[in-house]
Amino acid sequence: MLGLSSSVCRRAAIITYEAEMNLVIHGGGGKIIANIDQDSVEIMTVDQGPGIPDVGLAIKEGYTTASDHAREMGFGAGMGLPNIKRNADVFEIDTEVGVGTTVRTVIYFQSGQ
Ligand SMILES: Nc1ncnc2c1ncn2[C@@H]1O[C@H](COP(=O)(O)OP(=O)(O)OP(=O)(O)O)[C@@H](O)[C@H]1O
Ligand SMILES: [Mg+2]
Repeated sequence: MLGLSSSVCRRAAIITYEAEMNLVIHGGGGKIIANIDQDSVEIMTVDQGPGIPDVGLAIKEGYTTASDHAREMGFGAGMGLPNIKRNADVFEIDTEVGVGTTVRTVIYFQSGQ
């Protein structure tokens, strides 16, 4: 209905899916906030979970702390954050151990695309 291109929709869907799974599996739940504008889509997750001690490590492909239970369900490849980064024009993680994590992404597009 907004007339966004399939590429922008695909990127937004990948980001939202991966961010949502991390929110549930690692963050103990929280909020997903989406702001859709004339030329950008901002997707943000906010949780008050355990936080990420080493962000540099967490964004490496293959790094995971997923539990056996999560792995049994097919999660824990350590590909979520790298996937989010690849599909976003802006990718920011604000996190503090014991306080929580905010992941903010923005996709930019030409108006009408
Ligand atoms: N919201 C969060 N709160 C706390 N830790 C997080 C959060 N999101 C990610 N992490 C940490 O970063 C690691 C890497 O996340 P990533 O999404 O790349 O992989 P994964 O969730 O372990 O596996 P996959 O996404 O491939 O199923 C996680 O294993 C976890 O240690
Ligand atoms: Mg993940």
